[in-house]
Amino acid sequence: MSEAVFRTVKSSQVILKELMVPSYANFGGKVHGGIILSLMDKIAYTCAATHAKGYCVTASVDSVDFVNPVEVGDLLTLYASVNYVGKSSMEVGIKVVSEDFKQGIVKHTNTSYFTMVALDEQTRKPCQVAGLQLEDEEEIRRFVMGKLRKQLRRTHQQEITDIRKSLELGQAISQLEGENCLLPKG
Ligand SMILES: CC(C)(COP(=O)(O)OP(=O)(O)OC[C@H]1O[C@@H](n2cnc3c(N)ncnc32)[C@H](O)[C@@H]1OP(=O)(O)O)[C@@H](O)C(=O)NCCC(=O)NCCS
Repeated sequence: MSEAVFRTVKSSQVILKELMVPSYANFGGKVHGGIILSLMDKIAYTCAATHAKGYCVTASVDSVDFVNPVEVGDLLTLYASVNYVGKSSMEVGIKVVSEDFKQGIVKHTNTSYFTMVALDEQTRKPCQVAGLQLEDEEEIRRFVMGKLRKQLRRTHQQEITDIRKSLELGQAISQLEGENCLLPKG
């Protein structure tokens, strides 16, 4: 029987830097959120595939709240780290900061968690990934939090499914008063 493999968190940590060029701007002159999401997906893949030593897909992305706008001309830095590993899934934590060179201002843009799943190259089915060799208290804390978030995601998905199944439209309509919508006439 082959022995279980464990890899350190540091061995797959990634830092990605990208200059925010004018072609990334939205109509308001700030950097388009989609550009940042795409960079986050790229770094999540790089981090997960480095840990898994193989092909991975993005299974889910936790909410992404942009707490500060990113300006054209800023240098964006993304930090990615595998927080938690299940059987075939990995939670990658991503922190994004933007830096205005001229004024020397560094701003936290957002933090999010991507769940990546390792797939077998031949069958394209989820496959076992190496475990995490945790080396300090911070890595243990992140692993524990990643495990909790995995449970919460499952519970949340189940709750949404249950609500959709049991939805009584007539009753829901009666609770729409004061909401920002118009109902069809008749
Ligand atoms: C992600 C995917 C491989 C999961 O396949 P599946 O047959 O449901 O696999 P399983 O139920 O065996 O779950 C495998 C692992 O994925 C995790 N997982 C599955 N769906 C998930 C979701 N929506 N969010 C978070 N994790 C998920 C499971 O918890 C499990 O983790 P574990 O092995 O560590 O316990 C499959 O849904 C898929 O291929 N999705 C499309 C991914 C893709 O194309 N992404 C790019 C978008 S353009």
